[in-house]
Amino acid sequence: MQNQFVMKFIKLQIITFLFLFANPLLFAGEGMWLPLLLKSLNEAEMQSLGMKMTAEDIYSVNQGSLKDAIVHFGGFCTSELISNEGLLLTNHHCGYGAIQSHTSLENNFLKEGFWAKSKAEEKPNPGLFAKFIVRIEDVTDQVLKGAKDKMNEKELQSLTDKNIDAIRKSTKLEKHEELEIKPFFKGNQYFMFVTMTYTDVRLVGAPPESIGKFGADTDNWEWPRHTGDFSLFRIYAGPDNMPAEYSENNIPYQPKHFLPISLDGVAEGDFTLIFGFPGRTDQYLPAVAIEQTVDVLNPAKIGIRDKALKIIGAKMRADESVKIKYSSKFASTANYWKKWIGESQGLVATNAVMKKRDQEADFQDKIYKKRKLKKKYGMLLGEFETAYKDIEKLAYSRDYYSEVVGRNIEIFRIQGLLSRLLNIYQENGEAGYENYKRRLIPYFENFYKNYDANIDEEVFAALLEMYVENVDNEYIPPTIFNYAMGYDEIAQELYSKTLFKNSEKLMALLSLPAAEAAEQLKEDPIMQLGEEWKELYDEKVATPYNIKKDKINALQKQYMAALIEAYPDKTFWPDANSTMRVTYGQVAGYHPKDAVYYLPVSYLEGVMEKYKPGDYEFDVSAKLIDLFKEKDYGQYADQSGKVPVCFLGTNHTTGGNSGSPAIDAHGNLVGLNFDRVWEGTMSDLNYDKSICRNIMVDIRYVLFIVDKYAGASHLIEEMKLVHPKK
Ligand code: ARG
Ligand code: ASP
Repeated sequence: MQNQFVMKFIKLQIITFLFLFANPLLFAGEGMWLPLLLKSLNEAEMQSLGMKMTAEDIYSVNQGSLKDAIVHFGGFCTSELISNEGLLLTNHHCGYGAIQSHTSLENNFLKEGFWAKSKAEEKPNPGLFAKFIVRIEDVTDQVLKGAKDKMNEKELQSLTDKNIDAIRKSTKLEKHEELEIKPFFKGNQYFMFVTMTYTDVRLVGAPPESIGKFGADTDNWEWPRHTGDFSLFRIYAGPDNMPAEYSENNIPYQPKHFLPISLDGVAEGDFTLIFGFPGRTDQYLPAVAIEQTVDVLNPAKIGIRDKALKIIGAKMRADESVKIKYSSKFASTANYWKKWIGESQGLVATNAVMKKRDQEADFQDKIYKKRKLKKKYGMLLGEFETAYKDIEKLAYSRDYYSEVVGRNIEIFRIQGLLSRLLNIYQENGEAGYENYKRRLIPYFENFYKNYDANIDEEVFAALLEMYVENVDNEYIPPTIFNYAMGYDEIAQELYSKTLFKNSEKLMALLSLPAAEAAEQLKEDPIMQLGEEWKELYDEKVATPYNIKKDKINALQKQYMAALIEAYPDKTFWPDANSTMRVTYGQVAGYHPKDAVYYLPVSYLEGVMEKYKPGDYEFDVSAKLIDLFKEKDYGQYADQSGKVPVCFLGTNHTTGGNSGSPAIDAHGNLVGLNFDRVWEGTMSDLNYDKSICRNIMVDIRYVLFIVDKYAGASHLIEEMKLVHPKK
């Protein structure tokens, strides 16, 4: 008995050993891969994890493939085609702006949801676009043609700019095609993306916020989750199926491929693939940079937002009208506040700094053993230490300024725009002034609808105090030192005198002749403070920071090249940069802390457990409660008879992956990506399979809501529902 156990143990060790060393960096989960390289880098592993497709099924330039169903939504989210008539699925929080723009008190689509009963009722969204990737090519050789080792960064930049220009001129594009060239691996590699953009994208359907945003900020970045975070759009094309400006005569776009939808769901361990447009990761930072993030930069940013959110949150709880005004802004500030807290905790919990230090020791060891590598890269890690230490104070002050002035004290946003208006007046005279003013007015009208100067004044006092206490004197506008009064009084003094604190005052000012308005603008105390602060910031912080940052970027580029040279057998993936990527993994739960294990699937039962009547985050509509009570689930329940709501996977995702399809082993849609778990938000800096999980809505919940809740069965009829497991 015991012997058998030992044999088994040894076998397991050998397998683990072989697996680790055959694929040192490749393990299901980590990595955001370029679709055109899947064949050479990932296909074998993907199939070993259960995938039944080939790389060609996912990305092909010769025939319709999965990639033809994946659409960059407005440049900030992902979406996917789910019918032959251009029906597009994305998150509720991605469609939010569009839904909000059609919302009024009489037609409150945020609150009640919106369902077009026919195509004629679908709502156009000027400015919203849907971008396809036609093909991807490696253009590294052309972009770096003529590059020499001894060139400095400036020389290299102008060479690559010239080469990129030449590629642009010589690449043959079809009508409507456009071209983007982007650096990968910090500029060690370049890829070209040929794209096609459709601009007639109409809103088709959205659940009420009590479903699409269920749990709101409290549940944001958390598991267990019960949000039906989806909305539906449709791409329209000209009569030739090509991009066309909005027109009533446009027709639903006919895609090369759309995703069939699986009704069979997923089980723990099932293969999942996420296809989309992740925005930004920083996976190849040295330990010293991670340390700086955890010890210095994240705490500063978290602290500032903490203060602002506490002030605004208290006002929102006390006053319903404030809550309406501030809920969207509050959510957006709280989103990254909460993310950074999770990120720092996760980095600490997984010993990210120590792991990076170990990797760096191994790297140093490797390059010291090869004379050529040692000569080229021997100093690199030391230079990183110096460069990051050297930029620390500036990076900290930069974050402070951008959080305090650039984001959380809102009146400086108005001041910044008006300052620009003044500049335009000085440079282009009255015509330029009037022109820019005309563009600003609608923005201002919108801004003041959701602005409360008393709250902002309180935020101003609190954040100014933090700034003065925490930032070096040389970065503090001298005017502040001249006040012989407390922060509350400074705030009161400024806000009582400024003309920017409400719409009426500002509009009256802007209705004056340009010369007169300019005089008053210049005299405004908020204008004066804002300009003084900005000038000081540009000179003392931004300018030296950018110089040091360029140096760091050059080091990061070298480090990337060095890693690739030092570990020829490892497969590296390039940091996210808003280009199309594939990530793959498996459905899996996780251990958030000692003695706790989270199962990977949540159910409608959980929505009812969280239900708090009247609470704006956890209210549930009567209709949904009825469906639950009647167990009126149609074909959307799983084998146990329950409706699954969300599930977890080990797929490596980041901001921009919202709305990405979760695809099963056969290429069917099983879920809709929308978030990550809190403990694992450090995946942007150091993915760790033990706690990094992405959160998806189960597609059966989406269909259940569309069909049973909204009664939009005509939409279900457009889709192709399949049973791959039967
Ligand atoms: N955390 C998700 C993401 O980063 C969802 C954000 C939208 N939801 C919210 N409650 N703010 O975008
Ligand atoms: N919620 C994010 C998004 O909107 C996704 C993430 O950060 O995981 O793209």
